[in-house]
Amino acid sequence: MTWDPRQRAMLEAMGYKVWAAPAVEPVALVEERPAPAPAPRVAAPVPAVQAVATALPQRVAVASARPEIAQLDWQGLQQSVAACRNCGLCESRQQTVFGVGHPQAEWMIVGEAPGEQEDRQGEPFVGVAGQLLDNMLRAVGLTRAEAEPARQVFIANTLKCRPPRNRNPEPEELAACQPYLDRQIELVRPRIILALGRFAVQALLGSNEALGRLRGQVHRYQGIPVIVSYHPAYLLRNLTDKARAWEDLCLAKATLEQQPERR
Ligand code: URA
Repeated sequence: MTWDPRQRAMLEAMGYKVWAAPAVEPVALVEERPAPAPAPRVAAPVPAVQAVATALPQRVAVASARPEIAQLDWQGLQQSVAACRNCGLCESRQQTVFGVGHPQAEWMIVGEAPGEQEDRQGEPFVGVAGQLLDNMLRAVGLTRAEAEPARQVFIANTLKCRPPRNRNPEPEELAACQPYLDRQIELVRPRIILALGRFAVQALLGSNEALGRLRGQVHRYQGIPVIVSYHPAYLLRNLTDKARAWEDLCLAKATLEQQPERR
């Protein structure tokens, strides 16, 4: 078995060393830091593209509960986020983090909340987890840097302000910020959404189901396909799940390729 060059690049970008195992053995992967256990891990195969739409309840668009936000254009939305005082996080933030990327991106990536670096720089995923995310995106031909809408993603978070000491978002903070995410998605009109971590999943799918049970299927947010995957910060601590994150990206790419063109 040989690796597809892009698959190989992806795995290498995610911190694996990939080499061809002897003769008929499958290709083996090990972490860069040698693990004490002698047996190398074997990469999981890329998933088949037949994805199953789940019967999760469609989220009601919360933006409609905040009509003033649901009416905003892109610039108005940016200004509204920058001035937001709808929850207590406005007291501790250095600045809001609206999101970055193409305003008509085909891919939208939704994370959790800004951390320390993001709060300082005003851009999502700029810390170590962000570097991993960038590497993963690069391996499937995507970027946050300027490019055409098929290649330049839009990255947003469920919360636009950093929770103190990076604690988990509180339900009332998620509820207060949800209309902004809803309106961002409505304006960007992505063809595929990648939901990274459980808070993104809660915001987009209204589900508290374990991430592992939601992966590998095509969910929907307002008709847009949503692929669930692990948060990059989790992947940094759980290297064995990187191969699964690769599967998720492949599923997202294949799902998008099956989507009708945007009108
Ligand atoms: N984690 C997130 O979910 N978002 C960021 O912007 C940074 C870290």
